[in-house]
Amino acid sequence: MARVFITGSADGLGKMAAHLLIEQGHSVVLHARNDARGTEALNGVPEAESVVIGDLSSIRQTRGVADQVNALGVFDAVIHNAGVGYRQPRRGATEDGLPHEFAVNTLAPYILTALIQRPKRLVYLSSMLHQQGDASLNDLAWEERPWQGQQAYSDTKLHDVLLAFAIARLWPDVLSNAVEPGWVATKMGGAAATDDLDQGHRTQVWLAVSDDPAARVTGEYFYHMQRRTPKAATREVELQDKLLDACRKSSGIQLPD
Ligand SMILES: NC(=O)c1ccc[n+]([C@@H]2O[C@H](COP(=O)([O-])OP(=O)(O)OC[C@H]3O[C@@H](n4cnc5c(N)ncnc54)[C@H](OP(=O)(O)O)[C@@H]3O)[C@@H](O)[C@H]2O)c1
Repeated sequence: MARVFITGSADGLGKMAAHLLIEQGHSVVLHARNDARGTEALNGVPEAESVVIGDLSSIRQTRGVADQVNALGVFDAVIHNAGVGYRQPRRGATEDGLPHEFAVNTLAPYILTALIQRPKRLVYLSSMLHQQGDASLNDLAWEERPWQGQQAYSDTKLHDVLLAFAIARLWPDVLSNAVEPGWVATKMGGAAATDDLDQGHRTQVWLAVSDDPAARVTGEYFYHMQRRTPKAATREVELQDKLLDACRKSSGIQLPD
């Protein structure tokens, strides 16, 4: 039996992954943005061990999520699932002055990776849209470019792959991979989504807990339990380091060696 922490598990793929893990006999800690969503998360997955609370758009609250997780002990796997979508009409600004997409989709997984006691496996939710992400990594905070919601989302999903691969390289004792779940009809995906919802949560669960040799790999990108070739730039060590450096500067948090 494994113990797994899943961010953004009050809804969507995170909640579905939690159900599947519990069905398989594993123990799951949920995460939700505030107390009300936390209650809803536990009502939705009553067999879960517990829920931790914190809005991942806030650096302070994300630190609090890491503290709560560490207070619960060590986990076998963490699934970095929480995300905000590609329909944001305006840049907006978090309490730290960042666009929501960057704060929630890029910086929060970086902070949680850095601060949560190191698990055996890490899984990062990306998207096929990462292929359209801007590999210059310039202007991550969208202060110079005119806002484009889909581009901002695609950029962050590229960051998630870079983060997964950077960790795979820097922490050889951890299995760290990225997943493309397909375009599926969750709150984020919307009703028009064309991919199979029942496949959307299975790969991250498999990567988190399976003893299948195909799942016990690191630094890979998956779609429906098959390796898929990610954007070539994700393999560039310099680019991976550039992202880590930008996240360190934005958050003030250093990734441990
Ligand atoms: N659905 C797709 O077609 C698709 C395609 C490619 C990749 N993905 C990726 O898959 C992952 C899961 O997406 P989904 O489709 O399951 O989306 P979803 O149904 O919208 O669920 C996203 C989850 O993240 C949580 N969340 C969002 N912002 C948060 C914040 N600031 N603080 C804490 N929690 C926050 C949400 O909480 P609330 O419920 O309280 O809002 C929700 O539980 C995302 O990383 C997404 O980028 C999805």
